[in-house]
Amino acid sequence: MKGLILCGGKGTRLYPITYTIPKQLIPIGNKPLIVYTLELLIDSGIDEIGILVNEDNKLVFERGLSKYFDKDFKYIIQYNPRGIAHGLTFCEEFINGERFVVVLGDNSFRFNLKDFVHEFKNSKLNSKILLKEVDNPERYGVAYIGNNKIINLKEKPKIAFSNWAITGLYAFDNTIFKACKEIKASKRGEYEITDAIKWMLDNGYNVGYQILEGKWRDVGRAEDVIEENIDVLSSIDEYIKGEIVSSNVSGKIILEEGAAIYNSTVRGPIVVGENSIIKNSYIGPYTSIGRGVNIDRSNIENYIILDYCNILGVGGPIDNSIIGEGSIIAMEKGIKKINRLIVGKGSKIYLPSK
Ligand code: TTP
Repeated sequence: MKGLILCGGKGTRLYPITYTIPKQLIPIGNKPLIVYTLELLIDSGIDEIGILVNEDNKLVFERGLSKYFDKDFKYIIQYNPRGIAHGLTFCEEFINGERFVVVLGDNSFRFNLKDFVHEFKNSKLNSKILLKEVDNPERYGVAYIGNNKIINLKEKPKIAFSNWAITGLYAFDNTIFKACKEIKASKRGEYEITDAIKWMLDNGYNVGYQILEGKWRDVGRAEDVIEENIDVLSSIDEYIKGEIVSSNVSGKIILEEGAAIYNSTVRGPIVVGENSIIKNSYIGPYTSIGRGVNIDRSNIENYIILDYCNILGVGGPIDNSIIGEGSIIAMEKGIKKINRLIVGKGSKIYLPSK
């Protein structure tokens, strides 16, 4: 079976981070988010994988993924992204009539995909969706089930008719391409995958479902990225390739080549990327630090710091933060209050009020 990972779209909810990096490539632990999904697909026996990207992003993905896999992926470009069903129409040639699995590139899953794939492959279903009970179904596509059958589906309903969210993992046969071409854009101007599956249901095709036994997260917002980072760091396997000098380190830590910790207290789980230097600081649990980062005289925890940042003299209690590539946060001598911000479009700074 073939697999598709959808990474078109704009990632507006994660601006400004997604101005410089597609959300699917944001490092979670020591790997980009999409790498976990690629590993899940490959481990389930899916051998040919297509990745749907924007026209600007193909090279970024190729470069970002080359160090993790020996195999090649087929990059498919979605021009002028207008929804997931719109994105799928660009993939018809790659799928070439086979049955296939689709995963949204900003979703994370931990479950037995192999069984899901096997059951779909040997079934007469035209589509199979994966459902998970949630408290806030209005955020998702929602399924209504009766007598063990899907009766109705609706994307982001104002009032949900059930708590069964449609997760971002689906199996299809060729019928989905017909469905994607038949549907109209929704009120928000997108061609919704939920409408395409509803079209299949309404036109007599077989749509089945499975209740997800395992973990799923839609990593579309900053708070989701931070929660995903906590989950991933909770189960890292420690390795230390860099150097630790005059420091107090506890908990699990990944310290990449060329990275160093001097005169600091570190409480894992944390990940420190290649050539990053931590000096005279406290780094608390669930912190992911990218490559070439410089941290001095700071006190941080629960951070995701992307490559080449400088964090200097940043005291607590600022946590739950994502710092975009190349950012500088510095406390300078002689400055009594915050008096200078050089902040780009879409930045988010939360300051206390007096
Ligand atoms: P969304 O989170 O619905 O959309 P988005 O990525 O543009 O983000 P935002 O809402 O913050 O602007 O997308 C879910 C997944 O589907 C994500 O991995 C990107 C992918 N996608 C496409 O491939 N094509 C599209 O046209 C859209 C909208 C999303």
